[in-house]
Amino acid sequence: MRRSLAIAIILTIAASCSGQSGDSTTTSVTTASTTTSVATTSTMPFAPGAPGIGDSYYPGLGNGGYDVQHYDLDLAYSSDGTVDADVVITAVATQNLSGLNLDFVGWEVNDLTIDGAEVAFLRDGDELVITHRIPSGEHFKIDVSYGGTPQPMQSAAIPIEVGWLVGPESEQFVVAEPDAAHSWFPANDHPLDKATFSFAVTVPTGLTGVANGELTEIAEDDATTTYRWSMDTPMAPYLATVVIGDGWQIVEDPVSTEEAGVPIRNVLPSDLVDDAPAALAQTGEMINVLEEAFGPYPFDRYGIVVVGGFQHALENQTLSVFGRAMVDAPFFEYVHIHEIAHQWFGNSVSVAQWSDIWLNEGFATFSELLWVEHLHGVGAYREEVANRTQAARVAGYGPPASPPPDELFNGSVYIRGALVLVALRDEIGDDVFFETLRTYTERYADGNATTVDFIAVAEEVSGRDLTGLFEAWLYGQELPD
Ligand code: TRP
Ligand code: ZN
Repeated sequence: MRRSLAIAIILTIAASCSGQSGDSTTTSVTTASTTTSVATTSTMPFAPGAPGIGDSYYPGLGNGGYDVQHYDLDLAYSSDGTVDADVVITAVATQNLSGLNLDFVGWEVNDLTIDGAEVAFLRDGDELVITHRIPSGEHFKIDVSYGGTPQPMQSAAIPIEVGWLVGPESEQFVVAEPDAAHSWFPANDHPLDKATFSFAVTVPTGLTGVANGELTEIAEDDATTTYRWSMDTPMAPYLATVVIGDGWQIVEDPVSTEEAGVPIRNVLPSDLVDDAPAALAQTGEMINVLEEAFGPYPFDRYGIVVVGGFQHALENQTLSVFGRAMVDAPFFEYVHIHEIAHQWFGNSVSVAQWSDIWLNEGFATFSELLWVEHLHGVGAYREEVANRTQAARVAGYGPPASPPPDELFNGSVYIRGALVLVALRDEIGDDVFFETLRTYTERYADGNATTVDFIAVAEEVSGRDLTGLFEAWLYGQELPD
């Protein structure tokens, strides 16, 4: 039961996707990652930054012409459900700009300034189009005040609502992968533009306001409390989260902290504080298992926050959001290690193109197999691999490296994506395989990588031509033997 359930879990997103991956487009992405270069020629004409950053699946996401360094988000939540917000975006121009776009949808924009000056802007679908002259290389601050009642968004990539969601106890939580960051703050909404973040979450006193990174201050005013959080390691906008709830506790896990050498703290409703699933106490052990396989844990902290009315889990940086149903499920431990694994694969090393999503989900799913092996030995790993291979055959999974853009998180990117790594491990042996993973996480830490980058690392570390293996597993229609 344990293992067949394990297969079920990861497919909660995939299962809501209908249909088949068989007819998917075969876009193979060769985009190299990522360092933004600043055009220094002062004679270059001033032109608007591009309205998209160049994602082949979602061309409207992200923008060109500038590089965000920091988002300072200030959100005041009232018990009537409204939010009064302000974001200060610190960025640098990478070309001579006559204007630039932010991604942003919904809300009322009350005021917009750049370096303190009012600027002209208009709203066009998911684009906030700003007219303002900024020379290449110049640093600038965009300040946007906005407000309203947060509305969820229908993702272009998955058949569920994403963005700012509200649970049955009026808990507020943001789950934004892949395209919903810009439904709750103006952003350069693509993982190619990572930035540090700070958050001030003001709530009616008694509620708890949580976000990514470190809790730096709790300040009480008359009737409100402001929680300040700081994420000092670069983060893709889709991994930013704010979660607000009533009667929650911020609970340290000293045993896991001691075990992993990484501070662990969860945010839990009170009944879970008293009676959490056993696997929640294994966070430290899981991090240890994954550090051995993937290299050092990439951030300064980890924890989960548990919300009602949500069927999934999402690996927000340093703070995964778990629906209560996931925590109560018998397969919780597999989802738990899966989301922890995303801190390396997805969060520290992020995709450069959303079409490469198997680099997140395949690797995170592979971590579930490592947990089986850790707990029950290599025979159990083999058995689980056989089960999942069988499941992949029965489902007829197509190539994991080119999922349909409207079913980005289909079963193939998870299950067959993990089997790619199983096949690679079998081919090059444990030492070289894990050295490959560690080289990859180290080389692309806090950055972006492509499928091509991963293959290159595997070939470099193994000293072998692995084209055939990757061709068959990633791009071939049939599941190889
Ligand atoms: N990355 C999630 C996982 O761990 C799946 C996912 C993608 C998701 N987008 C989401 C979950 C939005 C919740 C909400 O597999
Ligand atoms: Zn995942």
